Amino acid sequence: MKNETISESIKINDTLKIIYDRRAIRKYKDKPVEIELIERIIDAGRMAPSAMNRQSWKFHVLTNTETIKAFSKEIVSIAAKKFIKTGLRQIIKSITSMFHFSAAFDVLKSGDPVFYCAPVVIFISAPVDNEWAELDIGMCSQNMMLAAKSIGLDSCPIGFGKFIQQTKIFSRLKIPETEQVYFSIILGYGDENPEMHKRIRENVFYID
Ligand SMILES: Cc1cc2nc3c(=O)[nH]c(=O)nc-3n(C[C@H](O)[C@H](O)[C@H](O)COP(=O)(O)O)c2cc1C
Repeated sequence: MKNETISESIKINDTLKIIYDRRAIRKYKDKPVEIELIERIIDAGRMAPSAMNRQSWKFHVLTNTETIKAFSKEIVSIAAKKFIKTGLRQIIKSITSMFHFSAAFDVLKSGDPVFYCAPVVIFISAPVDNEWAELDIGMCSQNMMLAAKSIGLDSCPIGFGKFIQQTKIFSRLKIPETEQVYFSIILGYGDENPEMHKRIRENVFYID
């Protein structure tokens, strides 16, 4: 590739802009997301690569505010039990990372410290015995969050979502025993503009 072609290709383009602009958003407007947009985002998820092209992800979409709150409440109680087992130091670490310091107060007041009152929660499941599921779903989720950003929506990956598996409300997702929830993401119209977290850059090693 000629040098001028290279410098042209690394200029910020639409795709790079979306990648750089995406942030984990933890405050949402009280505004539902149109079903067509949800469908478009899920379809972008389907376009992700998957090991041996298994495409074994399944999407479980919640848009009912009351249902989302109920799921959040159940996850909080499971998470609390887990934290109690792991001791006070871990409790403090987990709570501060979960609530991300500055947002802590707002989040506690909102009554939904897991899904941040987002209007859409998507649990992603795959077979329990798919050894690549976590990676496949990671790629799928990132596609979805970038697609969301590109059509004017915000998102946040919610690792805590996988605790849903251990709650009594889990049966409402009607996921068979051969499957498990690996991850969840939330979507909505963001109502905050957090600073970008500084990226660690001393992590590239070229090998001769
Ligand atoms: C696997 C994974 C799990 C995460 N789980 C949560 C979570 O449960 N709650 C939350 O608020 N953020 C969660 N995040 C979001 C990260 O905290 C966030 O991506 C990170 O702080 C970097 O911020 P940025 O996405 O705005 O660049 C998770 C991110 C990843 C990749």
